[in-house]
Amino acid sequence: MTDGPGRPPRVGIFDSGAGGLSILRHLASQASGLWALYLADNRYLPYGDKPTSWLERRAATLTEVLLERGAELVLVACNTATTHTIGTLRTRWPHVPFVGVEPAIKPAARLSRNRRVAVMATPATIQSQRLRQLIDEHAAGAEIHLVPCPGLADAIERADDEALSPLLDQTANRLLATGADTIVLGCTHYPLVADRLAARLGPQVHLIDTAPAVVSRVHHLLGTTPHSHTPTHTEPVQLQVLCTGDVAQIDRALLRWLDSAAHCAHLELPEPTIST
Ligand code: DGL
Repeated sequence: MTDGPGRPPRVGIFDSGAGGLSILRHLASQASGLWALYLADNRYLPYGDKPTSWLERRAATLTEVLLERGAELVLVACNTATTHTIGTLRTRWPHVPFVGVEPAIKPAARLSRNRRVAVMATPATIQSQRLRQLIDEHAAGAEIHLVPCPGLADAIERADDEALSPLLDQTANRLLATGADTIVLGCTHYPLVADRLAARLGPQVHLIDTAPAVVSRVHHLLGTTPHSHTPTHTEPVQLQVLCTGDVAQIDRALLRWLDSAAHCAHLELPEPTIST
């Protein structure tokens, strides 16, 4: 899929904010010599309270930006955007490979020993038809508990510990009350605090992060080979970062979650039209 020798494969990635860094850090840890353009639409975070029509228009605008800047594959690093928009994106750009991030219902139902699975996600993902379809197709015989987490992605994004700690306590209590032994991290922001959640849930509960599966899919479509991060094989991802909102917040997130000193540039985009 690349244009010739010497030109690295080009991946465009978007999310409502820093959540997609949970996927990008996995991609980067494989030192795969990719060029990645990460677009954080943090002016409009959270996506989890937006209607489908708004998300569809916004996802199309962000995809246009990534394609204009040379992306040859678009990674929708957001469960909310994927569950509501990936079908329309694929219809509009039939020749562009899209990789989405969806709640990992199938592996969770397979891994759960007590056949109880809890899905944490934004309110919009929980309400999506796509989630219902995934449950119908892949969770026969398992009890699925849907746990919407309004406000959690925002608190992670702001790294606001005063808001985050009590929210994590509350979320962990709701998850434990379901009796599930397997929890789907159905928003790309949540793996960024997986260790803090796991500490509250205890060792008997298994958290499922889709990043490894998503990154394998990216490699498969680009025809690239993942390899382990060894000093002899270091070909780090070449990273460019854009955001539509607070630049300093994304710079802090890059340092915190990717250990990257990359600087984000501001991108001015037209206002999305309001719709319900
Ligand atoms: N990180 C996103 C997701 O995976 C969206 C969080 C939000 O903006 O509400 O759903």
